[in-house]
Amino acid sequence: MAEIIRTVGLKREFIVGDEVVRALRGLSFSIDSGEFVTIVGSSGSGKSTLLNILGCLDVPTAGEYYLDGVSVRNMGKNDRATLRNRKIGFIFQNYNLLPKTTSVENVELPLMYNRDVSASERRRRAIEALTAVGLEDRLMHKSNQLSGGQQQRVAIARALVNDPVIILADEATGNLDSKKSYEVLALFQKLHRAGKTILFVTHNPDLEQFSSRTITLRDGRIISDVRNDNIQSADEVLANWKEED
Ligand SMILES: Nc1ncnc2c1ncn2[C@@H]1O[C@H](COP(=O)(O)OP(=O)(O)O)[C@@H](O)[C@H]1O
Ligand SMILES: [Mg+2]
Repeated sequence: MAEIIRTVGLKREFIVGDEVVRALRGLSFSIDSGEFVTIVGSSGSGKSTLLNILGCLDVPTAGEYYLDGVSVRNMGKNDRATLRNRKIGFIFQNYNLLPKTTSVENVELPLMYNRDVSASERRRRAIEALTAVGLEDRLMHKSNQLSGGQQQRVAIARALVNDPVIILADEATGNLDSKKSYEVLALFQKLHRAGKTILFVTHNPDLEQFSSRTITLRDGRIISDVRNDNIQSADEVLANWKEED
């Protein structure tokens, strides 16, 4: 399996006043193509800090980060932005969609930076990505006309449209009720079956049983990194769903 991500002794420190916050205290791990990894840990354990570095939104204070074989550490801001745009699909807790903008336009956005993609090709790929997340009947709805679960699926389509080497999701189910969370997990499992590499960050340990590996963070350190031989099916959970009130 090809290695997509490798970190060596990754550290991130923040200076706040005259205090040093050690958000990441030396993380070394690698992720292969086709893995579905959950990163779990309580609030403040360093999950978002790590994901922002892996997503090329931030740089480490020390240590190495290789994305698809390329060292990110000494890259300039512009090169990092290009790398992010070509190789990373990012999904956030609050969806980060443009308001009053249609699904299809939101999903087209990452392709606007790519001059090799024509307007018609852009539209075709946006529709394809929205169809993959089951929103083919919501193409022209504006984001404020969609439910939270639908907005998150638009955000997932936007993350897919560039065909990134890895999808990074930071608390992607954090604003959703449990049924909608399982729907998003079912979608991630479908993408995983289709060969996508996914890094799913959550503070909720109940959600780790749906991926093939769990990395647990505590106080900026990896305290365990285990394979899951008994992956649960989110589709099955949904099929047996009993509405409670
Ligand atoms: N920009 C920042 N400036 C200062 N401290 C930060 C910053 N970002 C995160 N931290 C601190 O780093 C630690 C890890 O934060 P974070 O990565 O957001 O954790 P998590 O996503 O697991 O809740 C926390 O103690 C947090 O307060
Ligand atoms: Mg966080």
